[in-house]
Amino acid sequence: MDMAEIYSKTFWSLFEDLDSSLNPVGPDQLYDVADDYLRVGHRILDVGCRDARHLIELVRRYDAYGIGVDPVPWHVQRAQTAVEEASLTDRITIRCGVAENLAEAPASVDVIWCRDVIEVLPDLPTALTQMRRVLRADGHLIAYTNVLHGPIDPVETASIHEPLGNVVANLVEGDLEAGFDAAGFVVVRKHVIGTEWREYIEERNQVVSHELLRLARLRRSRDCVIERYGQDAYRTAEASLQWGLHQFLGRFVPVIYVLAGASLC
Ligand SMILES: C[S@@+](CC[C@H](N)C(=O)[O-])C[C@H]1O[C@@H](n2cnc3c(N)ncnc32)[C@H](O)[C@@H]1O
Repeated sequence: MDMAEIYSKTFWSLFEDLDSSLNPVGPDQLYDVADDYLRVGHRILDVGCRDARHLIELVRRYDAYGIGVDPVPWHVQRAQTAVEEASLTDRITIRCGVAENLAEAPASVDVIWCRDVIEVLPDLPTALTQMRRVLRADGHLIAYTNVLHGPIDPVETASIHEPLGNVVANLVEGDLEAGFDAAGFVVVRKHVIGTEWREYIEERNQVVSHELLRLARLRRSRDCVIERYGQDAYRTAEASLQWGLHQFLGRFVPVIYVLAGASLC
């Protein structure tokens, strides 16, 4: 293209077209997927439950029983408070723990909900084996995670994944799916979300635009921030503020997996 074409009015029109929403699906899509596998009275295990927001919603929707596990004491505390406020203490138990060492009895859970946690699991093979162990023969593991588009990049690993506690090997799609297989799972459903949830959220709340503004300010005030909050906090903030951008650019690809025990098939 020559300069006249590059600066032509074609792009005014094209960009105007792009101001129209393509009606992306939002994060509630995960509930829609779960709806195919959850039944009234089911026992749900939320691995990495954080504040139990999703577990509470699922228990309410299906009059189910819930167990939430998270290793961060502050998350456990917030989750317990949320369960109390929701008047669901008779239905939901929250405890401190890790995916790699689940306390549940074998074959005692109907659905495992594992949302945005696989990325940070330090020992994914053990965690998957544990999840397979506690899942009933006809149960399902519903996982939302992110995979890399393209090969591992050491610079990205050091600047984004390590400060966020991500285990970069868990983001390699082929290795992840081989890990499911090795733990005795089969993928019964796989849905590549791509940029849709991001588009949905951005159209409503401009979250990533806000993060980019924060990122620019963070970098411009680097020395002050490090002096006040420390080097580690700076690195983690810098990494966190880039996560959504990389999802938008298609480098980190959100995916939903539904897994079942291999013996089912
Ligand atoms: C990105 S957050 C997602 C939280 C929640 N599932 C959600 O979607 O809102 C990741 C969560 O995984 C938890 N986590 C970290 N290491 C874990 C482990 N080894 N086993 C279980 N959960 C873990 C963190 O404490 C955090 O609550």
